[in-house]
Amino acid sequence: MFKVTLIDESQQKETILDVANDEIILDVVLRQGYSEKDLTYIDDDGTEVKFATENEIGCIWSCRAGACTSCAVRVIEGSVTPIKESFFLDKDQLEKGYTFLCKISPQSDCKILLKKEDDLYE
Ligand code: FES
Repeated sequence: MFKVTLIDESQQKETILDVANDEIILDVVLRQGYSEKDLTYIDDDGTEVKFATENEIGCIWSCRAGACTSCAVRVIEGSVTPIKESFFLDKDQLEKGYTFLCKISPQSDCKILLKKEDDLYE
């Protein structure tokens, strides 16, 4: 079990969670009851769709599959499971610690800056 510190600079807020090395960090955030502001609607075909949304600790998410960039974060201390270079993240961004909260597990105690989606498109 590792200590994961999630830092929301815009709210000057830090949240520390205990996360196992085989757990997805965003799953732990949602499981711990931080999803009250999740917005859901039923699509024309009956599919439940969740909007990108923000919760009390500043996590933003939408697809939960590494396919939208809503949950982009930057790891500034410690290590997490590596993800591959992709359409959304190039080698330079990966080297700077950018990754997706919905795709990573901690590999040590770590500190993570939330809400970094805009950085990917600068
Ligand atoms: S929620 Fe879409 S990439 Fe993580």
